[in-house]
Amino acid sequence: MSKRRVAILISGRGSNMESLIAAARASDFPAEIALVLSNRPDAPGLASAKAQGIATAAVDHKIHAGREAFEASMQKMLEAHRIDFICLAGFMRLLTASFVTHWAGRIINIHPAILPAFTGLHTHERALKEGVKLHGCTVHFVVPEMDAGPIIAQAAVSVLDGDTPETLGRRVLAQEHRIYPLALRLAASGVLRIEDGRVFGAGGAEAALASPAP
Ligand code: GRF
Repeated sequence: MSKRRVAILISGRGSNMESLIAAARASDFPAEIALVLSNRPDAPGLASAKAQGIATAAVDHKIHAGREAFEASMQKMLEAHRIDFICLAGFMRLLTASFVTHWAGRIINIHPAILPAFTGLHTHERALKEGVKLHGCTVHFVVPEMDAGPIIAQAAVSVLDGDTPETLGRRVLAQEHRIYPLALRLAASGVLRIEDGRVFGAGGAEAALASPAP
């Protein structure tokens, strides 16, 4: 089977992007990173991808008249690079229902919380405030509703007494870097099926991903 041609959409640092790029170097990985696209021309992740010889594109949302025009430019760029799968990795723009529907089943996102808890921003602060004892991250298929959609993989970390949003966020981020490549491997290899909003077919890997990390 030929490899899926993946675009990673970023807005900033790009550490999840790096973990996907690293994983995709394996010859048996079912996807290749064919494009890194950012809505911010100055995103550090964009420069890093370029330095690694990966095709990059900046589609600046600020110079577009609105969301539709911005997405039309992105879509053009994705088509020019023959992209057939999208990974959102710290992409800080909301996507319209029509864009998401066009890519349904071929667009995934990583969120720094155990969904459906803590959708939205500032998840680590909010987890500490609520006093939860487990926190973590989720990779899910994207649907029009924000931070929702069938869940592919999750990982949990314990919340420690002395945690700050920064220390907790660092441990969660380490798990993000672990599960995003695994989730992309599963999604790109075509073994997953979605039934009634649930993802099936991850097999043994699914259990491993769900186990609390030390
Ligand atoms: C990550 O925490 C990701 O879960 C969230 O935004 C952050 C992006 O970080 N969606 P990075 O750019 O991948 O380093």
